[in-house]
Amino acid sequence: MSKKLRDSWGSRLGIIMAVAGSAVGLGNFLRFPVQAANNGGGAFMIPYFIALLLVGIPLMWVEWSIGRYGGGFGHSSAPGVFNSLWKKNRFIKYFGVIGIFGPLVIMIYYTYIESWTLAYSFFSLSQKYSGILDQASMQSFLRGFQGLEKNQYFTSIAPAYTFFLITFIINIVVLNYGIRGGIERFCRIAVPTLFIFGIILLIRVFTFGVLDPSKMDWNVFNGLGYLWNPDFSQLLNAKVWLAATGQIFFTLSVGIGVILTYASYLKKGDDVALSGLTAVSMNEIAEVVLGASIIIPAAFIFFGPVAIGDVAASGAFNLGFVTMPLIIGQMPLPEVFGFLWFGLLFLAGVTSSVSLAQPAIAFLEDEFNISRKKSVAMFGAVTFLLCNAAIFFLGKGVVDELDFWGGTFCLVLFATIEVILFGWIFGINKAWEEVHHGADMRIPGIYKYIIKYVTPIFLLVVLGAWFFQEWLPIIRMDNVSLANRPYVMATRAGLCLIFLLLAIMVKIAWGKRKKGKKTL
Ligand code: PFF
Repeated sequence: MSKKLRDSWGSRLGIIMAVAGSAVGLGNFLRFPVQAANNGGGAFMIPYFIALLLVGIPLMWVEWSIGRYGGGFGHSSAPGVFNSLWKKNRFIKYFGVIGIFGPLVIMIYYTYIESWTLAYSFFSLSQKYSGILDQASMQSFLRGFQGLEKNQYFTSIAPAYTFFLITFIINIVVLNYGIRGGIERFCRIAVPTLFIFGIILLIRVFTFGVLDPSKMDWNVFNGLGYLWNPDFSQLLNAKVWLAATGQIFFTLSVGIGVILTYASYLKKGDDVALSGLTAVSMNEIAEVVLGASIIIPAAFIFFGPVAIGDVAASGAFNLGFVTMPLIIGQMPLPEVFGFLWFGLLFLAGVTSSVSLAQPAIAFLEDEFNISRKKSVAMFGAVTFLLCNAAIFFLGKGVVDELDFWGGTFCLVLFATIEVILFGWIFGINKAWEEVHHGADMRIPGIYKYIIKYVTPIFLLVVLGAWFFQEWLPIIRMDNVSLANRPYVMATRAGLCLIFLLLAIMVKIAWGKRKKGKKTL
């Protein structure tokens, strides 16, 4: 059987930009500030940095290493990579299915939200929302756009659907050009551009001054203080620790099989230690410096210390798509700043969503020997259909459900499996050597113990705490309204079906390979 040439990265900067692009996303600019504001402000940053050091950074190294290792055996998705790490075990490849399933589930809703940012970039440029001056009307604008109600702004979901189609096609076009020609080329331009947009917005927020001389304390410093002043009593709350750990996973894109797929296109001698750390650092700058300095301080300047609590509690979507347009509407040059804000979110979104697609595409290419273009087309057709569930049942709790299973549960589960696989089954000594193969830096020795003991224990504790606190309420759908329960049940059934189909595909792929070996 002729092995086709594997795709690869064109340069080291290219893969760093691609991994940073995957990590820097809507999570940095919308999810993070809201999580921090609602979970103890400055006190949130303590569990956040602890989780970064004990879970985020080690997992980044683990995923880069096992990805590059599996790539050496011609595998770019988790079933094959896991199988290469533990050849004797027949079942481990099925655990790898989570590394295709999780990203696919996130992709289903993430691409739709991403398309809102494209739509709002246009609405900013065309001043479609510029006459709207109050929270309730801006909220109606958003709900009308999402198809949740018919009103004076929108009478159907058609505009949202059109922007979704455009966004989806952009993703598919980038993917169609492959790793080097598509993802790398796109990220090399998009990532620096979004940083520039972010810096301009940060400067804008920092130079606001005060809007009303009678309210001198409504300023950027107090806005930053609102986010950063710690409320230490929150540290005793398990919820805060879970939220911080969840944010680290989500923001770094680790623990789900995406980074592993990107790293599989490296060459054996390529560095992973320094490159992985560089990508983490870029994400943290985008999150802690830019993400924290735009949306919450701006909202504080406009709404003041009393109302900000409600604004922050209204959630990431409200802040991003209701509060920010209102604020921007009151600035000079609202078209420009609106475009910068939503353009920033859009670029951050696309560089993340293409990474969510790649594991499934790589799975089709490697394990079924299907050409890249055909794999992209097959993946595109299936995902497109699935996205419709997020679009048409947005108000029925479907997106929250997808976010819980794909964006929270699968992350922690997959991370636990991969770190145990690497540190214990593959063996920490071999693992340590693997991480340092071709490395441009030496990782502090303490991380050998962290990867072997601390990260898995941390993750098992988080999983255990969840299990005890949340399992029953989640199964019983305690937090879902009665009207939404049928939709949530249907989503769960659909997810089980997708998982099962992927597992069957793994079985077929390996069955074929075995047969192929016998006839050789
Ligand atoms: N890291 C992305 C963000 O912060 O928006 C989201 C994400 C992308 C999560 C890719 C997981 C993933 F595999």
